[in-house]
This record gives sequence, structure tokens and C-alpha cells, in this order.
Amino acid sequence: MDEIIILEDLVKIYDTGAIKVLGLNRINLSIKRGEFVAIMGHSGSGKSTLLNILGCLDRPTLGHYYLDGVDVADMTQDELSRVRNKKIGFVFQSFNLISRMTVLKNVEVPMIYAKLGPAKRRQKAAELLEQVGLGARINHEPNELSGGQRQRVAIARALANDPPLILADEPTGNLDSQASVEIMELFAKLHQNGSTVVVVTHEDNIAEYTHRILTFKDGVLESDRINESPTPVSDNVGLGSRKS
Ligand SMILES: Nc1ncnc2c1ncn2[C@@H]1O[C@H](COP(=O)(O)OP(=O)(O)OP(=O)(O)O)[C@@H](O)[C@H]1O
Ligand SMILES: [Mg+2]
Repeated sequence: MDEIIILEDLVKIYDTGAIKVLGLNRINLSIKRGEFVAIMGHSGSGKSTLLNILGCLDRPTLGHYYLDGVDVADMTQDELSRVRNKKIGFVFQSFNLISRMTVLKNVEVPMIYAKLGPAKRRQKAAELLEQVGLGARINHEPNELSGGQRQRVAIARALANDPPLILADEPTGNLDSQASVEIMELFAKLHQNGSTVVVVTHEDNIAEYTHRILTFKDGVLESDRINESPTPVSDNVGLGSRKS
């Protein structure tokens, strides 16, 4: 099947007791394997709500989410965690690295859950850190690195189990413009290597790296357009020949 993501009449209602908030209203959308997609929209338009559902961090209230052909709504919590670990690499705006743990260990964490042995996961973590340009920093702790470097660690961690789907919620939101370019070039490279990459952003110049731009407004998918001329990426970005 070509589609890695299919959403059918997807609705998310946040029920906070007294009031109910409509996070997403009847979203129909499909994303093919290997696409590079931006999700845009004003604050509160439902971008994170959507990404959290795509990343199996949250579930739809109504409708269907087929990930790789399987309806997520039918999965138990255990199955969901397994799917998350195997199929999805999630990158957050605030990096979400574990402090007082070396970056090597941070990248190993998803492989521990995937039950990879210590020697193999250490080697894989070191390789991934090398590929994102942090080979010389593997024994540093996150607070000894710059924001851009921390985000590269988070990307290496997201790649640990070779997930087909990479999701990033405002990955450049805490970074200066130079570091933002480097992070977007890494995502572009992942896309070139065959991964499906979905990035939430509210900055046009970040969205311009992608090939398809979805815009949300008040929980509704307002526009879905192809970006005819994505920002070109320099050839000397890392991640040379990893398999997706
Ligand atoms: N846990 C929650 N409980 C209640 N309402 C929520 C919750 N999370 C989000 N919402 C509401 O759902 C709507 C969509 O929020 P969401 O976080 O998806 O927006 P966003 O597009 O990511 O915004 P931003 O650009 O500020 O990150 C908003 O009205 C928000 O207040
Ligand atoms: Mg958000």
C-alpha cells in the first residue's frame, strides 16, 4: 500500500469536564510513503493535536487513523507503545532529552525498549550520532550542547529503530536561523533517503523545505497544496546512506 497515513473523518474532542474543546473537526487526509509534509496554521489550529494522534501519543475521539493499513483505534495501550517504538520517530520543540545521561545513552533508550543488546545499541547510537555530526560529543550530557546540537541528538534518537515515519512538532521553534537550516536539511536528507517526514511549523521558510503544505484553521484542514520548488539542500549534509 502506498499510503502510510490515512485519516477518515477524524475528530478530536478534549473533554476537560465542564467544557469540551474541539481540537480537530472531521479531518480526511492521506499521506503516501516517502512524502515530506509541513503542517501549518495559527496557534490553537490543531497542529499538535494532529501530530500527537499521528504519533500515537493520543487517540482520536471519532473516526479512523490507519497507520500502515492498521486502524490505531483498535489497538491496546501495549500495542500502541510497540507501534510507536517501531514505526515512529518523534522530535519535539523542546528536545525532551534526559539530562544527566550522555547523549549516547539518550539515543540508546528507544533501542532498550526494542530489546536490542547493549553492544549493538551502543554501536548503532554512536553511528547515528556520527551521521548527525555529533561523533565527537557522544559522551557529553545534553546541557553541555547548544540547542541545535541537542535537536540533532533528538533526531538521532528518533532514528534509532529505523522508523518509516518521522514526526516533528516545531523542531526549529527554539533554534536560531542557522541551526534551523541545519535541522531542516537533516529532515530533507531523511526524506531523500526514503523516510516519510511530517513537520509542524508556523514559519513559511521552514515549510518551504517540504514538498506538500497542509494548513489548518480552527481544527479544520483549510488547504493542501504541493510546493513546486522546495528549498534545495546542500550535498554535504550528514546521513549519507542510511536505510530508511
Ligand atoms: N490537553 C488539552 N485539553 C484541552 N484542550 C486542549 C488540549 N490540548 C489542546 N487543546 C485545545 O485544542 C485546540 C488545538 O490545540 P493544539 O495544541 O493542537 O494547537 P496548535 O496548532 O498546536 O497551536 P500552537 O501553534 O500554539 O502550538 C486549542 O483550542 C487548544 O486549546
Ligand atoms: Mg502546537
